[in-house]
Amino acid sequence: RAIEIVKEMEEKCATPIGKLKQVADAMLVEMHAGLASEGGSKLKMLISYVDNLPTGDENGLFYALDLGGTNFRVLRVKLGGKDGRLVNQEFAEVPIPPNLMTGTSNALFDYIAAELAKFVAQEGEELQSPPGKMRELGFTFSFPVIQTSIASGTLVRWTKGFSIDDTVGQDVVVQLTKAMERQGVHMHVSALVNDTVGTLAGGKYFNKDVIAAVILGTGTNAAYVECAQAIPKWHGALPESGEMVINMEWGNFRSSHLPLTDYDLALDVESLNPGEQIFEKIISGMYLGEIVRRVLLNMAEEAAFFGDILPSKLKIPFILRTPDMSAMHHDTSSDLEVVGSKLKDILEIYNTSLKTRKVVVELCNIVATRGARLAAAGILGILKKMGKDTVKEGDKQSTVIALDGGLYEHYSEYSKCMENTLNELLGEEVSKTIEIVHSNDGSGIGAALLAASHSRYR
Ligand code: BG6
Ligand code: GLC
Repeated sequence: RAIEIVKEMEEKCATPIGKLKQVADAMLVEMHAGLASEGGSKLKMLISYVDNLPTGDENGLFYALDLGGTNFRVLRVKLGGKDGRLVNQEFAEVPIPPNLMTGTSNALFDYIAAELAKFVAQEGEELQSPPGKMRELGFTFSFPVIQTSIASGTLVRWTKGFSIDDTVGQDVVVQLTKAMERQGVHMHVSALVNDTVGTLAGGKYFNKDVIAAVILGTGTNAAYVECAQAIPKWHGALPESGEMVINMEWGNFRSSHLPLTDYDLALDVESLNPGEQIFEKIISGMYLGEIVRRVLLNMAEEAAFFGDILPSKLKIPFILRTPDMSAMHHDTSSDLEVVGSKLKDILEIYNTSLKTRKVVVELCNIVATRGARLAAAGILGILKKMGKDTVKEGDKQSTVIALDGGLYEHYSEYSKCMENTLNELLGEEVSKTIEIVHSNDGSGIGAALLAASHSRYR
């Protein structure tokens, strides 16, 4: 019976090429709808107010705060202009205490402002800003925000593990600025950016052919460079560049073509944000391990997969994290020792047979493969929107997509599968023109670069 449950999962999670193409087409339709009007689609297609990406001329000392991934980061980036380029980058990194993720707005913003104050307090004389000049900051805030300018915007809703009611509808730059005042650190926020937009800016700084960025981490999302004229909901002046970076918020994509199982539906209902972020909930790092746990629990309950006594740890939501799932999936030892020890250490399931361990690996593979292949379909949707899914005569420029996030970086079975699937979807000729690069921590650097190009002292 346990094997049947896994087989059933495999069938329900199947992502044949035809289905992936339907997903990409549905993504394309939603992209158009989201650009046409506010609220026109589940895809918010948020206007970033970034109409110029870094050129390499950026110069000076800038800071960045990066909130929304696994860790919270403070960065100081020294930019050397055309000749020097990026001179150096230093940062501090701390996890956000879980109680702050669901507490009050002031508590969260005070915490990050206090970390920033600590970072700045350690600086020597040589880094003090000249009299009358404030330090400037790029704020990477990796949640959906309706921007009102490059340096202001209101939070639409929290996603991932965050849920703090009193921030929703507030300008997060105002929240941060007030918290900085309370903590006695005086800085000016010059740019507010999503992590995808930061990654795109950081990616572009190092490689001029970067035209889109995708995050596969705790959450998932993408940003790309759109023609300003192709954004009907934009009523402002057309930017000189003719371009505008769009933060898609693709985590909230939903389509009848998505292969959803009862496990996904139950996960969604019990989540912090039911009905939202459905694409994210089957693709990203926050959820993959949890899906595996839910299937294993069902196998234990329905088919005594781990013996007659139900392992009680298996009932704890989110106890099986995606990094642990990844470690099991990558276990190459002949007796699947890693799988055995993860089951023992995390779930207190002892003495598992090799057969049992193999089934667990198979299940990890099913869940990761579905996520990775759907991520590739999402990328195909963007390439279609940009007209890069075919090769045009005379088009010599290659197309580069910057990728970042812990899932992409550390879960190699997942990233390999995503890249292979993208090649499969594009076909040999087109895939030669598309390149994926890892933009390591690019979003913090990107935010500092955008703070530089939007500096009030320019
Ligand atoms: C980091 C970016 O590299 O990737 C963050 O700087 C981003 O802004 C993060 O949120 C996503 O990764 P994860 O795996 O930490 O969610
Ligand atoms: C979530 C957020 C989005 C972010 C993504 C990756 O989907 O809503 O803004 O870009 O996670 O961190």
